Amino acid sequence: MTTVAPKPVFDKGLANTIASESAMSWIDGQAGVLEYVGIDIDSLARNSTFEETVFLLWRGKLPTAGELAAFTTTIQDQYELPEPMWDLVRRIPVDAGPMHATRTLVSALALYDPEADDPSTEANERKGIRLLARTPALIANFDRHRNGRDIVKPDPSQNIATSFLTMLNGEPPTLTMSRALDVCLILHADHGFNASTFAALVTISTLSDMYSAVTTAIGTLKGPLHGGANEAVMGMLEEIGEMDKVEPYVRKRLESKQRIMGFGHRVYKAYDPRATYLKTLAKQLADDTGNQKLYEMSRRIEAIMDEAVGSKGIYPNVDFYSAMTYYSLGLDIDLFTPIFVMSRMAGWIGHCIEQLADNKLIRPRCEYTGPHGQEYVPIEKRAQK
Ligand code: ACO
Repeated sequence: MTTVAPKPVFDKGLANTIASESAMSWIDGQAGVLEYVGIDIDSLARNSTFEETVFLLWRGKLPTAGELAAFTTTIQDQYELPEPMWDLVRRIPVDAGPMHATRTLVSALALYDPEADDPSTEANERKGIRLLARTPALIANFDRHRNGRDIVKPDPSQNIATSFLTMLNGEPPTLTMSRALDVCLILHADHGFNASTFAALVTISTLSDMYSAVTTAIGTLKGPLHGGANEAVMGMLEEIGEMDKVEPYVRKRLESKQRIMGFGHRVYKAYDPRATYLKTLAKQLADDTGNQKLYEMSRRIEAIMDEAVGSKGIYPNVDFYSAMTYYSLGLDIDLFTPIFVMSRMAGWIGHCIEQLADNKLIRPRCEYTGPHGQEYVPIEKRAQK
């Protein structure tokens, strides 16, 4: 008996395909709403911490005080890297791109995890904690290494944002800086089936392992159409340089059908709610750090884009004002996307665990456009060019 398979639907870029279920984040792209487990992103940005947000995403509820303390300690207990990893950080070429370094180092964590191939839920959760806890030390210390500075180990008495900035700069951040990064980590933690999360899910759906899934995701986040856009935004601001050059720059790009980085989104056809919060944060930090010119240039780009393409539903996305925010925090431009990795790690891991709880291999089809019925011509009879 032959089984008749349903006719596949052609959906380029999977733009209108719901590939699976998730209880983590919800997006209303028309209204510009993002919720994590039903809680509005703005409320989380104002009130929560990154550690609490991770608990919410992974456990589906806000923690009690005791649960949060225990969860935070579990993460902090895993900050320290396996000893050989420090040596590996020092062996990465100093001129390597930080996203290449991040992808390589995160992947290498698997080499020192005896549970790397244990597929049990408990082991996957432990690996998730290790990945979340250890990635900041890898990123910060690769940056130190490339700048000829000594390793600074993570501090298990600090939260992820503070420990990361302390490692990066060799001194504790101000409260304002630490809180600003903490909020950025909250805002970037999860976003449905975005490209990097989906890439992680494709990998884990083959029953590969968490390290492989997260490594896939890091490679996917790197692209300038996805997480790499925050670096491209800063590059654009630097290239424009002066306020009076903003308008000609934007108009010329639009006329030549080029994109303005940090604008547009596959799902949002309204203002990205993360950008709303980041705009306020970027303004505060710009005022505190004297980066008003860059902020004013960003506002001008937004105004021109709004008038030119706002009617098409193209507004600033999360990357537009996060670029300014990170810049005001004194972070090197090429660290912006690695910091996104630190945050989105929460989403990747949560989605992988959800996928494994009810797994189905992710394997779409393609529309074949090549020929049929071709004859195999022996090599000696093929026409020579
Ligand atoms: N600047 C100018 N025009 C744009 C932009 C932009 N940033 N984004 C989309 N458009 C236009 C396109 O030219 C197209 O116009 P047309 O219909 O006249 O041809 C229309 O909007 C639709 O664009 P698509 O590429 O079909 O939309 P899609 O949903 O595939 O793209 C994407 C979404 C890739 C994010 C796109 O908006 C883009 O390239 N933005 C710039 C890169 C960026 O900021 N990426 C970060 C996204 S957020 C994140 O990943 C964390």
